[in-house]
This record gives sequence, C-alpha cells and structure tokens, in this order.
Amino acid sequence: MVERVSILGKDSIHLGFRLVTHIRDTLLKTQPASCYVLVTDTNVGALYLDDFKRAFAGVRFLSYVLQPGEGSKSRETKAEVEDWLLAQACTRDTVMLALGGGVIGDLVGFIAATFMRGVRFVQIPTTLLAMVDSSVGGKTAIDTPHGKNLIGAFWQPEYVFIDLAFLESLPPREFSNGMAEVVKTAAIWDEDEFAALEARSAELYAAIQSKSTPGAPISAAQKLLLHVVKASVGVKAHIVTVDERETGLRNLVNFGHSIGHAIEAVLTPAVLHGECVSVGIILEAELARQRGILSQVAVGRLTRVLKAYGLPVSLSDPRITALPASRQLTVDRLLDIMRVDKKNKGDEKRIVLLSRIGKTFEERATPVPDAQIRKVLSAAAKVVSGSPAKSPVRLATPGSKSISNRALLLAALSRGTCRLTNLLHSDDTQVMMGALADLRGARFEWEDGGDTLVVHGGGGALAVPPAGKEIYLGNAGTAARFLTTVCTLARGAGETRITGNARMKQRPVGPLVDALRAAGSSLEYLEGAGCLPLRIAPGFAGGHIKLAASVSSQYVSSVLLSAPCAAQPVTLELVGGQVISQPYIDMTIAMMRSFGVTVTRPDPARHVYEIPNGGYGVPPEKYEIESDASSATYPLAIAAITGTTCTLSGIGSASLQGDAGFAKGVLEPMGCSVKQGASETTVTGPPKGELRALGLVDMEPMTDAFLTACVLAAVATRPPLPGRELSDAPNPLTTRIIGIANQRVKECNRIRAMIDELAKFGVETKELDDGLEIYGKPIHELKPGVSVRCYDDHRVAMAFSVLGAVVEDAVLEEKRCVEKTWPNWWDDLENKIGLKVEGVDLQATHAGPSNSTSETAEVKEKSVFVIGMRGAGKTHVGKLAAHALGKDWTFADADVLFEQKHGSLPAFVAAHGWPAFRDAETALLKDLITSPRYATKHVLSLGGGIVETPAARELLKKYDGPVVAVTRAADAIVEFLERDKTRPAYGESIRGVFERRQPWFAECAKYEFVNDFVPQDEGRATGAATTEVARFFGHVTGVAPNLVDLQDGRRSYFLSLTYPDVRPALPIIDGLTTGADAVELRVDLLASTDHAYVREQVALLRGATSLPIVYTVRTKAQGGAFPDEKTKEALDLIELGRRLACEYLDVELSLPVAGVDTLVKNKGKSKVIASWHDWSGKMRWDGPDVKAKYALAAAFGDIVKIVGAANSIQDNFALRRFVDSVSGPGRPPVLAINMGAAGQMSRILNPVLSPVTHPLLPTRAAPGQLSVAQIQQALHLLGLLPARQFFLFGTPISKSMSPTLHNTGFKELGLPHTYGLLETAEVDETIRAALKDNAFGGASVTIPHKLAIIPLLDAVSPHAQAIGAVNTVIRQADGSLYGDNTDWRGIVACVGTPPQGEWTGCVLGAGGTARAAVYALKALGASRVWVVNRTRANADSLAAALGPGVHAANVADLASAPPAVIVSTVPAAGTESAAWLKARELFARAEGGVVVDMAYAPLETPLLKLAKAQAGWRVVPGIEVLLEQGYCQFELWTGRRAPKGVVRETVLNAYKKQQGI
Ligand SMILES: NC(=O)c1ccc[n+]([C@@H]2O[C@H](COP(=O)([O-])OP(=O)(O)OC[C@H]3O[C@@H](n4cnc5c(N)ncnc54)[C@H](O)[C@@H]3O)[C@@H](O)[C@H]2O)c1
Ligand SMILES: [Zn+2]
Repeated sequence: MVERVSILGKDSIHLGFRLVTHIRDTLLKTQPASCYVLVTDTNVGALYLDDFKRAFAGVRFLSYVLQPGEGSKSRETKAEVEDWLLAQACTRDTVMLALGGGVIGDLVGFIAATFMRGVRFVQIPTTLLAMVDSSVGGKTAIDTPHGKNLIGAFWQPEYVFIDLAFLESLPPREFSNGMAEVVKTAAIWDEDEFAALEARSAELYAAIQSKSTPGAPISAAQKLLLHVVKASVGVKAHIVTVDERETGLRNLVNFGHSIGHAIEAVLTPAVLHGECVSVGIILEAELARQRGILSQVAVGRLTRVLKAYGLPVSLSDPRITALPASRQLTVDRLLDIMRVDKKNKGDEKRIVLLSRIGKTFEERATPVPDAQIRKVLSAAAKVVSGSPAKSPVRLATPGSKSISNRALLLAALSRGTCRLTNLLHSDDTQVMMGALADLRGARFEWEDGGDTLVVHGGGGALAVPPAGKEIYLGNAGTAARFLTTVCTLARGAGETRITGNARMKQRPVGPLVDALRAAGSSLEYLEGAGCLPLRIAPGFAGGHIKLAASVSSQYVSSVLLSAPCAAQPVTLELVGGQVISQPYIDMTIAMMRSFGVTVTRPDPARHVYEIPNGGYGVPPEKYEIESDASSATYPLAIAAITGTTCTLSGIGSASLQGDAGFAKGVLEPMGCSVKQGASETTVTGPPKGELRALGLVDMEPMTDAFLTACVLAAVATRPPLPGRELSDAPNPLTTRIIGIANQRVKECNRIRAMIDELAKFGVETKELDDGLEIYGKPIHELKPGVSVRCYDDHRVAMAFSVLGAVVEDAVLEEKRCVEKTWPNWWDDLENKIGLKVEGVDLQATHAGPSNSTSETAEVKEKSVFVIGMRGAGKTHVGKLAAHALGKDWTFADADVLFEQKHGSLPAFVAAHGWPAFRDAETALLKDLITSPRYATKHVLSLGGGIVETPAARELLKKYDGPVVAVTRAADAIVEFLERDKTRPAYGESIRGVFERRQPWFAECAKYEFVNDFVPQDEGRATGAATTEVARFFGHVTGVAPNLVDLQDGRRSYFLSLTYPDVRPALPIIDGLTTGADAVELRVDLLASTDHAYVREQVALLRGATSLPIVYTVRTKAQGGAFPDEKTKEALDLIELGRRLACEYLDVELSLPVAGVDTLVKNKGKSKVIASWHDWSGKMRWDGPDVKAKYALAAAFGDIVKIVGAANSIQDNFALRRFVDSVSGPGRPPVLAINMGAAGQMSRILNPVLSPVTHPLLPTRAAPGQLSVAQIQQALHLLGLLPARQFFLFGTPISKSMSPTLHNTGFKELGLPHTYGLLETAEVDETIRAALKDNAFGGASVTIPHKLAIIPLLDAVSPHAQAIGAVNTVIRQADGSLYGDNTDWRGIVACVGTPPQGEWTGCVLGAGGTARAAVYALKALGASRVWVVNRTRANADSLAAALGPGVHAANVADLASAPPAVIVSTVPAAGTESAAWLKARELFARAEGGVVVDMAYAPLETPLLKLAKAQAGWRVVPGIEVLLEQGYCQFELWTGRRAPKGVVRETVLNAYKKQQGI
C-alpha cells in the first residue's frame, strides 16, 4: 500500500513500508535514464545498499558511499562526488538517488542542481527528520566555515519516497530529533494532529521499535506512524506549494528555529538540530506568551509534548549544561548569531509567534525587539523596583494543582458536560486526560484558546483498552494513585495495564493495592511489589474497605473519588493510627459534594466514611478551579509592601485551602486592610515602609506561605499590634514564625534558604527549632543589587520578587523554577501587576575568553598584597616588585604603617597583649583594602601573623586583586628568625608557627612566589631575582603579562622539556630554547609529582629563563605518564602551576568540568590550552569527532590543541582544512598537529605554538618532532619563508662585527637570510637600489648615514624621532620601510637595573651617538643628564636640543650631583690623553656606579681602565653594547629572539682575533 501526498501540483511524495521495489518500478517507468546513481553514507549503506543493488540489477546502477555526519555537507565532498561522476562518464540524463538523512539529501540535491547544469534526483529519506522536513520542499545546501547551509539552491526532487521501515534501524535519539519537527509542524498548523501527538507518544515509540515483516499487513501502531508522518509531510507540502521560494508563509516552518539555530550554532555537533529546535520552540512560545499573545496552557502543552518525545525544553537541561560549550550560551552570543537570520529585515529580528496551538499570530514571522528576546533567553530575572503600575491590580492566580486533578477526574466520571476554567495544566492533568481517553471514560475539548477545558463525562462507563496497549503515566504521582482505583471500573475483556517511568516505578502504591485486593478487586504487580506497573482486572465491588492512610492521603482520595461508581456502597475505614494530611481528604469530600455525591462520616471520632453508590450525577455546567492559595500570597504581598491594592478572584473565605488564611492571618495584623468575600480577596497595604512586625505567628495551617511572610517581616518597621508583642524578643521589630518545621524538607531547606538570602540584604534573622525570627529594618537600609539564589524552589523565587518590588536591583538567579506552580509569573508580574522585569544573563559574568578584555581593565591597577612568614623575603620581594611594576607603583609595609599609627610593635604587644594586636592588625588590613589611597598601584607587604585571625583570612580571600604568598624553605626561615631579636617572641617554636600558618597562607593567597632568589640579609638582589620578580608581578597584576605573541601570521614555538629533573637543562637553557617562544614543563614526566618537588622545579626553571612556561600534566591515555584515574590529583597539580603564575596551563578535555571551571575562573592573566590527543591514527580531521572535540575545547580554552596521528601526508592537508574551517576573528587560536613521521608536515605548517625539540635535548618529547631551525628551513623550501638580504650602511665599516653577529643568528635559527656590508661615502644610488630590491630585508645604519637615511624611509619610530637618528631599517610585511633606533636600547640593556632612588647620568661627547645615550639615560630614570664635551659649544647645543633635565657641563661642575651612570660616546683615541677626563669629579659618587663605553676598540679603553681603578664601579665595554643593540635589531627584523649565547660567543671570538687578543 503506497500513500501519496501532493506537492507543487504533483503527487510526487510516496509513503509506505518496504518501498524498494516500488521505487525501482516507478523510476524505471517514469524516469528513464542512462544511469542511476545512488549516494548514501556508511551507516545507511551498510544496512540498505544491497537491497537497492539487487532491485536495480539489470540497469546501469552506480553507488557512492560517504562518511556520515554534517562534515560531508562540504564543498570538498561535493567536488569529490562530482569528480567521481565525471570519471564514471555520467551524463545529463542521469538520475541521482539520495538515500540517507538530511545530510545526504541536502548534499545530493545540490550536486544534482549543478551537475551538467542540473540533473534529476529523488529523495529517499531514512531519518525521521529527513522524511518530515529536509526531503520535502527542494531546499538543498552545503556548509562553509562561515556557517551552515550558506551555499545551495532550490532544486525539487522528482519524487520523495518515504519508506517508514527505515525508521526501524534509526537510533532513538534520531527519532526524537525528527519528532521536534513533527511537533513544530502540528503546532503551527493543526491542533488535532497536535492533540494526537500529545496522547499517543508511547504508541509512536512502540511503532518504530516493532519490526515490520515484508508482505505482512501493517500493524495499528505502524498505521499511526504512517498517519503522523503523512500529516506532517502534508502540511509542509502545502506550505511549500503556496510559497515555494520562502517569501512569507514558508517562514512559518521556521517556528522554533530562530532561537533554535542560534543555540545549534553554539552546541553543534554535541546537540542535534531537533534538540536545539525543541528548546527554541519553548523559548519562542514564551516570547509569544510574554507579549500576551499565547496562553500559558499552550506553552505547557508544548513543553509536555516535547518532553514526552525525550527532547530537551530548556537551556538548563542537564544534557546541555553538562557540555563545556554550554558556557558560551550567553545571551549576547545568541543574539549576535540571530542577527544573521534570513528572515530578518535589516537590524530587526523576526520570529514566528504562535497565537494558539495550531495557529500562528501572523502568516509570517513577526518583528521582535532584542530586549524581549533577551528577557526570554536570560536565566535570571531582575524585578525593577517601583509601584505596581496596574494598581488597583485585579487578577486570578493559577489554579490549585490538587483541585485541578480532582476536578478533572470528577468531571470525567460525571454524566454530562462540564466546563473547567482556571485549570492548572500540569503533567498530572495531562497524563490523567490521556489515560481517561485511553479508557474511553471521557472526551475533552479546549475552548477560548485553551482557557477552558470542556469535559464530556462518561458517567463512569470505562472500557479496558485493547490488548497490548499500556497506559503510560510518566512520573505523575497523583494521576497514578487516582487511576489505580479508576482502572478497576473499566469493563470489557482482558485487563488494564498502567506503567510509568523509572522513578514512578519506585513510588509506593502498596497500601492502596492491598486495600482494593482485600475488597475483592484483582490487581497484580508486574515488576517490583508495591509499585507500578500494575495489571488491573475489571471489577470494583465496594463494601467495607480498610485502608492504611499514614503514608499518603492520595490513597484515601483515590478510593473516595471512584467509590460512587462501585457495585456496592462503600464504607471506607482508615486504619493504622495517624491519618496524614486530613485537609486534602476534606478537600476531596467537599469537591465530591459539588459534583453531587455526599460523603458522610457518622462518627467524627473515627475515620470511617460512608459513600453512596449510583455514580455522579449531572455535573455543574461550569466549575471554576480555585486559585492556588499559596501563589495568591505573592500579589497580595506586593500590594502590602508597596502600599497599593490588589484583588484576587478565585480565592476567599470559602476556600478549601489553608493558605487562603494568609490575608486575614498575616497581612491584616501587619497593617493591611483586608476584604474577603467567599471567593474573592482584596488587600490594600499601608503606606510604603509602614508594615508592622507580627510578633508571634503560628503558620502551621499555611506552611507554604511562610516565605512570603518572611520578606514582609524583613521590612516591618512598626511594632506588632498590641497583644502580639513578644516579651522575650531581642528586638521590638521581631516576627517569630513557628509551626513550619516541615519546610526544611521541601524543594530545599526553606528556613535556611530564607535566612541566608535575607542576610544578603542585610536582614538579620535567627533560626528556631520549628521556625525562625526576622528582625525588621527600614527599606532604605536593605542592600540593593543582591543576587538571590533560588535553590530551584518556586516559592523562594516568588517570595523574593516581592522584596524586589521595593529594594533596587534584586536579581532572582533561576527564574525558571517558578514553572512548578506559576510558569508565567514573570509575565504576570509585568503585564498584570505592572512591575517591570528585566532579563539578566548570569552566564556572561563567568564566560570564557570572550570577555577577558573588560577584566584586564579592572585588574590591571589593583594593589597586590604580599603575605608569608617573616623571613620569607616579603619586603625585599615587595620592593623589587613595586620597582619593576613601574614608577607609579609604591611599596608599603603594613608593619611600618602600623607603627606610624600605634607606636612600636613590641611595646604595643607588651601593653595590650597579642589578641589586641591581632585585632588592630586586622583593622589596618581592612583599611588598606577599602581606602582609595591604597586600592591601586601599591605592593603591600603584611605582617607574618596576619593569617592568625579568621577575620583577616576572610578579608584576604575575598580580595579581588592579587594576593601573593612569598614562600621559602622552612629551614632557611627558621635559621634566619632564630638570629633575629627585633620582633616580639612568639612564645612557641618557630617551626611550629611555620607549620600552623602554612595552610593559611596557601588558602589566602591566589598566587605563590617561591623565593629562592633574594638573599635574606641584604637588599641587593641578583639579576635572576630581579627578572623573575618583574616577570611574576608583571604577569599577575596584568601590567606586563608574560605571553607569547600569537598574532596572525607570526609563527610561535615552544620547547618541550622532558627531563625527570630540570637541573641538567639549566646551564644550556639559552641554547635549548633557541628560537622558542615558550618552554613546556612536562610535569607528568618529572621524577616526582609531589607538590614540593614540582614547586622547586618550576623555581629552578624560573631562575634560568623568563620565557613563558607551558605547564603540562599529560595523562597516560593522552600519551603522558600521569595516571588517568587520578583526575583530582591532576587538577590539583595544574592548580599548583596556576598558583606559581605559569603562563600557559595545559588542561585535557577529559578532566571533570567542575574542576576545570574553577581553574578557568582563577586563571588571571594565564591562558588555558584545552588539549586533546588521539594516538590511535583513527581520528579523521574531516570527521565529526574532531569537530566535537574542538567544540568542547573552544568552550573553555584560550588556545585549542588537538593532536592526531598521520597515516599519510594527506592527513596533514585534512588537518589544515579543519583548522581553517574553525579559525576566524574571535575564535581561539588552534594548535593542531599530527604525530609520526608522516605528520611532520603538519608541524611545519602549524603556526600556533608548535612543539619543537632541540639537538641538545637527550630525547624527543614526541615522534616526528622537529627543531625550530628545521622548521624554518622547511618553510623556506616550501616557499613560505623567502630569503632576504640585510646590509650595513656606512663607512668605514670593514671591521664591523655586525655581519658575524647577524649571520650567526640567521644560521642558528635556520633562517635563509644573509647580512653583508654596503660601504658608501654617502647615502647614494647604491643604497637606494638596495632599499628598493625585492629581496631587501633591512639594514643597520652607522655613522655617517644615521640622519641622511631618514628621507628614504616611509616612517620612523617615536624613539628614532626623539633621538633624531636611525640606526635600523626594517622592511615591513607590506613592503614599506620603517626606521628605528636600537643604540639606546643597547645602552639600557647594558646598564641593567637602574640605581635606586634619585640619581644623575653623564654622557661624554656630543655627536650623534651621544643623543642616543642621553635618551637611554632618561629612559632609565635619571633625574638629570650631564653632557660633557671637549668643545663646550657642541654640548650646549645638544643639551638645548634634548630638552629639560639635560645640562651641558664641564667635568668640574659634576661635583654638585656626581653621576651614577656614565656613557662615553667618544672614540678611544679621544679619551687617551684628554686631561678633561682625568678629573676626580667624574667618579665622585660614594656608592659607585656604571660606566659604559660605546667605543669598542680596544676592548679596554683608557676610560674603562680608569673606572676599574675606582671602588664600586662596574664597567661595560663597547662590544657588549654592540651585541645588545644587535639582538634588538635581529628581533625587529625576524620577529624572533636572537640566539644570544651562540651569537655572543662567535662575535667575541672573532673580535678577539681581530684585536689580536
Ligand atoms: N533542506 C532542508 O530543508 C533541511 C531541513 C532540515 C534539516 N536539514 C539538514 O538536514 C541535516 C540533518 O539531517 P539528519 O538529522 O537526517 O542527519 P544525518 O543525515 O546526519 O543523519 C543522522 C544519523 O543517522 C544515520 N542514519 C540515517 N538514517 C538511518 C537509518 N535509517 N538507520 C540508522 N542510522 C541512520 C546517519 O548515518 C547519521 O549518522 C542537516 O544538515 C540540516 O541542515 C535540511
Ligand atoms: Zn528544522
């Protein structure tokens, strides 16, 4: 049997089961062709290709099988198939068959559209999604790195053959995926279909699971499946026929897709299209609800039906939140992606809005402002405080859940039609309706767009469902209990089976089943005793029933509700002691009376109820479900707290629910005026700020309302009414709520929750055994801007929104938790009460790298606290740090500040004792943190005992700038302190103190500085210490993050250190790291991963190099040595690396998300490399795995590292294609390489942090690893690194060391460049020609051309400009010429750390180089620079030219401020016998200083000889300056650090040879 659906005027969509033969017959008959070409993927091919081959035997039939997955929808695959088609000599009359899911359909359709300008094709969809959506309509497309489906065509298939038998092999998740589209189509077009989908989810699942047999008639279930698919296809076909090119109506099929696609863009491929659309459907429905277009009932129905098909319905679904990529689901990101939707008009977003189930608001997408979308997408809500704009407010709150369930069943069992209004549409009611329909006990219809449910009652005449049909109840507890008895009423042959989900199968029904069995009914447990599933035989005799009612009152209500339909009148006797929840039993009895049955209780002392039989009579025509009384408390409380009026219908003095007493029992005594009719309540609050405290209130009858009472009590500023005061209360504004102990075991511990959240507002409370006390405060004293945690508890969220009405900027963190009882609370708050609600995106505040720029701005200037044991070197380190961070940073010692305030420490302790001292110390710390003076740009060293007080520890832990613990070995500290007598004695052993405080330092500090550098006794630091302090503090403060330049186009490398102990590497570290930008410490390969050992290893490495460290803990599974299962230990180790301020932290994807999150949160300036290694060789770079890993890594990594293994060179090209496809602005850089020799190519081509080896290393870290030099050579040979020529311009230059210097550097790094001399007397044609040559790379410029060269350049650096001379020409990437000056940098480098305090400098000579020297001295911080020259006039004009602070002088004048740094620019010959230099004044500075001689022949000039003879003077020969400035030039030209060690050695050797030394 083949069914047909018409599209675009032709019956070309065929549906049925097992259609292969039909497909062949149809095609051969109607689509004659020279060749039939079937394209499929490996999954589908393995299952079904042979069937097609057999069927098409005898005609030319070709097949091509592709990799499954979205990756195949690419240009590359399209070209691959086209090339193959051409090779097979396929011609224009070919017919292509697309057998597979949407991927195959879209791809093959597009190939068919363009092959030979278009060939015929047919769709044979094999996934549900393809059947109902992608195969119908003629849209075809492929993906590009810029987005999905961007290149394609409208190309209609000749036929769509929908063979439902294919679904039998489809994984369940793919079935759900397609159901999202089915639900979507019904939702926009056909309410009846929608209702069928609601009612028959279980049957549909069963249908795809039962196998069809060839030839056999199809089963009922399969008929249903066919019907559902056909209906869905029919709608789509109709819409396509009306609007083939998507100009209006066809937009409608995009319902759920505007937001769904944005979500998909972030979560793909981990989450499927239909799953994202499912969430999108709900969010877009909520958008319509928010605008007042769609009712909550409809949103509820959509939610439940999607859930029934196993689909996620919110972004907080655990399947989504478990994905690292979910961190990127920020509202801004989603809105940004939505900007490029085809439906949009300009900037305006358009979304399909539903107006009810089966109908859209407009016949096209509707414009929606961003603010509305933002609100729907946000996880948190902010109530904008103010007065309710709609006052006097009038509204009905949602129906009570308990009453809704009962009313539905009562109406169904009655004889006649009853209209239920204000029904709470929950899982329970949904399930109950489905079950009653299955039992043919009643018919249901919706009226008023879902506001009214019309129940056509069956009078208790129910029928056993057909054999094989189970009634599925999900986890709907009330429905399960009520229906257990109802099923005994069903008549007919066989039995009724009821079942539920796994959770339901654990919930008890035992006492009820026992009671019914005892009364003669037959019920049987099918799995576990005491729980569902049950088999229930017809027959409810009635008579005397004994029931244990101590577990659930629902058992009692179950028997009561069905009893009127029993064969005999029922006498229900409750046994077994205490009866639980009597109010609910009373509620059932009261409602039965409304439906015409009177239950009597002859003896009120006994729990015996008499129920007449004879069934329910004619029901009331209309039954309004009472509003939920607990929900009612919120709008009433808003009136109370804002001094406005609110009237609620559906709740009053006649209410069945205890919480209805809230108005009279709580609001009235708080000073509100309350008017209550039988079913209406009006409350008017006192003027804002004038609520009364309650004194004592017992809320036992209305426990759920206590949270509302708490927030009102928090702002009660008038004493309780006379008679309610508490004599024993600590505060006259006390409200003491009791009788609510059960609220500790609700959705959360609600008493605790209220105490903790109120505390955030600054409201004090006290917990009691069965309640709490709240102490009222004036509203203006409550803290604004509080972020309230809701504990996934609807009542906490709604109660605090009441407080939000008067306290500014309160944010309710989980707005969705209100769904349980008032899903549209936020909409009602805005639309019906008149308080504005805004969306708040909490995600954005802790998202990954995207917002790191704003963080930089904040953290950069924050002061640093330095803590640690006395003797650890805090002061020395702190001073060095402040010095290194820059002139505007200041060091301050808290002990010194303390003594300024309180006098000497020992005296203070002696006078007041230690505790008083600690208090004063903590108070000082608080001052430092809060005072604007110290908040920024200070390094603050704290006393060693600061961590002794918990309060001080808290302050430090909460501080949002860097806190650094300076540590050093215990022995060193103890020894030092035992010698020091200036501090008060501890009164205990120093080692004891050390051990006690150590953990506190660790917990208070975010970073740890291991001080193995700075000697304890003297303030003078070694060079290594200065560099390391500068690096560490520059990095953690953000003043100078020590990071690799990863800019586009620049290649970067890191060297892997694989030593068990780094010591052997240290002496040769400079050579080892030649050309590398960073060094990797493979922590997993160290001799021990003990933290103390690792800490020491890092410190040792830091002493030898300040290159950024890549800190890696590689697990065994990923090719390392760290045990896979020790994930916690691995995270702890990485955390250690972070604390030590290692710049790059390698974090493997497999580590637990929570731990990684914490790490990412605390990373500061350091960067996370999210890594994944696949050694198997099976990972395909064009496959879905890599994409999935990338998505995971990109979600939290600043850099993504993916390593595979190459089998052939092709794998490296696939790798590059993959990297290109995921690279782009704003995306993290990707380090991707293949292992093994076949993968070497990938190492050469990878631009981002390529791991490299070095010939000096004992072993390679990984197979296929290359050195920097090897990679550069390879790049050159590949044409990616052209050889350049560099020159020295000047005269005389024949003796210059520069060629040796630069050529050595080029060679070491494997660079193909050359450096030669170009000696000319003037800047002439020769030089011009050299500059213009295409191979020109750059030049050094020396005397006499440093000025004359400038006009030939395109631009000049600010330094060169200030100096007025260029010594370096750089050819930039765009070919332009740039002039710079490195002379001054060479001088700065040679002087090193400038002298401390105020100092002056002196320059000898007044020529061109002197200008650079003056500039260098000013840059080093000299307060004044003397210029001394033989010809005074030249000195005068130079000083005049270089501005303030520069003074021409004779040597004799220097006595007033003798220089600390002297730079001579005079040739050696000029200083030989010059009397003007021999003056004592030159070296008059008592502390000594540094002399730098720019002349470099001879090695020791007369000036240097002279200086050496003076005490305290350090000398720097000119050759050193030449080297330093040369390194700078080298870096400017090549973008790489010069290999200093080798270059220096080679140059010095050549120099010595030249000088004959
Ligand atoms: N053209 C359109 O109008 C349109 C509409 C919606 C979606 N799409 C496109 O459709 C694609 C998604 O289609 P999809 O969800 O069908 O994915 P798909 O084609 O990737 O198929 C899903 C998976 O199921 C496997 N599979 C397919 N049929 C099977 C069967 N019968 N038994 C066992 N396994 C089977 C496939 O091999 C694949 O691994 C996306 O590219 C999307 O853009 C297009
Ligand atoms: Zn779709």
